[in-house]
Amino acid sequence: PSVVVLSGGISHERDVSLRSGRRVVDALARLGWAVTTAEPDARLLTALLEQRPDVVWPALHGASGEDGSLRALLDVSGLTYIGSRGPAARLAWDKPTAKRIVSDAGGTTPASVTLTREVFREIGARSAIDTILGSMSEQLVVKPARGGSAQGVTVVDEAQQLPRALMDAFTYADEALIEQRITGTEVAVGVLDGDEGAEALPAVEIVPRSGFYGFEERYTAGATRFYTPARVPAEVAEAAGDLAVVAHRAMGLRHLSRADLVIDGEGRPWFLESNVMPGLTETSLLPQALLSTGRDLSSAYAAITQRALA
Ligand code: DAL
Ligand code: MG
Repeated sequence: PSVVVLSGGISHERDVSLRSGRRVVDALARLGWAVTTAEPDARLLTALLEQRPDVVWPALHGASGEDGSLRALLDVSGLTYIGSRGPAARLAWDKPTAKRIVSDAGGTTPASVTLTREVFREIGARSAIDTILGSMSEQLVVKPARGGSAQGVTVVDEAQQLPRALMDAFTYADEALIEQRITGTEVAVGVLDGDEGAEALPAVEIVPRSGFYGFEERYTAGATRFYTPARVPAEVAEAAGDLAVVAHRAMGLRHLSRADLVIDGEGRPWFLESNVMPGLTETSLLPQALLSTGRDLSSAYAAITQRALA
């Protein structure tokens, strides 16, 4: 099949996407497939409609590729592409929405509140802190409500860190998600659609040397130690896999996704978010999970492509 891999874009995760895209191209080219790349710029649709590839692989992270807008355009154009459709991607991209959907589907997700930049300006830092601490303890994680690769994310231990953490989150989105922090084992669980429906890959356990899985810890070789499968009891790993699949199904995700979870001291997995185009770089989690099952990336990515073509 002919494949166009989209990478780059103008999101905050442009560089990550370029790295993911390169790896997908390498993996598929090794099979002798006709693979080309394209940037999602103003001429993209014209170019794609001229070229009419069998399938488009949007290896795009962040707003341009994961918020559903570009995917909706591909839908309108009648192009076949890898991953979730526009409306489903939009749900997963918005972390508060994703948490609500997964919670309604029976999954556990940390308590949280959201705050827009505008309301924060209006009510001021003092009342924002009072509001937040009215329902949660000071062990928090503050994130942009929409974003990726831990950009704008702060781990908070004391109320006085909150104003700065909120401002950091507002650099990336006009809404912040303030989430109760669950201490435990951080894991990522890839989900692939198969003949029997969505299936979880082995959980990848994340142990950043710095203690926080930030941008550097994600994309610098050696900055984080990974254990695949995660060093947790079998029933805990199964519960994590089930939660990742619940999230994938509840949001109507397609072909592939990766849920990020924390497993608490009692072995209970908590849902943080699902990514509709998980990172596929050298240090990313989904490729590690695929490799741990004995597959090579070429055949794994070929299988995902074939599913889109089916
Ligand atoms: N947002 C990055 C690419 C990830 O989820 O892996
Ligand atoms: Mg993410």
